Amino acid sequence: MSELDLSALQTLRRQYFGLVPPYLLHVPDLPPAAQEWLADNLVESPLPAPEEGYQRSFWKRLLQPLEAGAGEDGVEERVYEVVAGIMATPPRFGEPPQSYKTFLYGRPECAITLLEEQVAVQAGTTGLRTWTAALHLGHHVLHSSPSIFLPSSASAPPPVLELGAGTGFLSILLAQLGADVITTDLGDENGDDEDQLEHPPRVRSLDWSDASAPPDDRPGVWAEALEPVEGRGRVVLAADVIYDPDLVPFLVDAIGVLAKESYAVLAATVRNEKTFKLFLDECSSREMRTELLDLTPMDSSAPTFWDTALDAGTRVEIVRVTPS
Ligand SMILES: C[S@@+](CC[C@H](N)C(=O)[O-])C[C@H]1O[C@@H](n2cnc3c(N)ncnc32)[C@H](O)[C@@H]1O
Repeated sequence: MSELDLSALQTLRRQYFGLVPPYLLHVPDLPPAAQEWLADNLVESPLPAPEEGYQRSFWKRLLQPLEAGAGEDGVEERVYEVVAGIMATPPRFGEPPQSYKTFLYGRPECAITLLEEQVAVQAGTTGLRTWTAALHLGHHVLHSSPSIFLPSSASAPPPVLELGAGTGFLSILLAQLGADVITTDLGDENGDDEDQLEHPPRVRSLDWSDASAPPDDRPGVWAEALEPVEGRGRVVLAADVIYDPDLVPFLVDAIGVLAKESYAVLAATVRNEKTFKLFLDECSSREMRTELLDLTPMDSSAPTFWDTALDAGTRVEIVRVTPS
């Protein structure tokens, strides 16, 4: 092995900022040059650090390789300081706190930083965290050939509308790629001022159940979403929104209205075949065409986005829906 296994260190850095559980890490040898690299790129990184509990278990996992690789002067000073500081602070008990989580991808490197809950369900909702299907759809947006978008030869992504966006991971990714994005979910509109972006997504509140209301009675976002952008209708995107059978008819109604001049692409984590089939059946009962896209899955050993969601490893289907 070379003195500095840069590729393994880069992976370790992406895993650290993505809060990959320390027991899953493959830690390379850490000779003095690697320790210096960790000091420059983790300890002194301008990216927001993960919460303290994660940092503690991460550095604990690295302790033995750090000591084994240390030079005559011991573990690199800046790394030693941070490890000693964290180990000297008593651990906090109770609910895991929110944490910054940064998904790093591409060359030149791009970053999506989110403040996420560390639990799956929060106050009766699905929790403010990014789910498996969103990460897979993000991977396919970046890497699938042919493109998940139509016509597949287009180089720039089309204007999009995201439904049930949650943390906004996909919307931010599309905005970073230059798309005109409206991002929607239930709840308040917190403004569009996403400081990571030059052209941030417009954040709107949109409840799928409003689809069945007469057009004039629907909140303004419905008309806004249907306005063409440079002559093109918005592509509707959604990840992990097919999970509650009671919500499926509302979701399909919303797609029918919002994608009527274009199409929708959904990423579904198939936890329950019946719920997924219900979605396909609801689409066909409204004469909407569904197509399961045959895409090479994201490589779980070297993924575009590290997936730490509870249902990592569950089958994800990418479905294109075209209202007739
Ligand atoms: C499992 S989460 C997925 C979040 C995000 N797309 C992701 O993959 O990380 C499901 C999302 O659907 C949203 N949702 C549920 N019912 C909805 C409705 N009636 N109208 C709009 N959004 C809804 C939830 O608020 C939640 O953000």
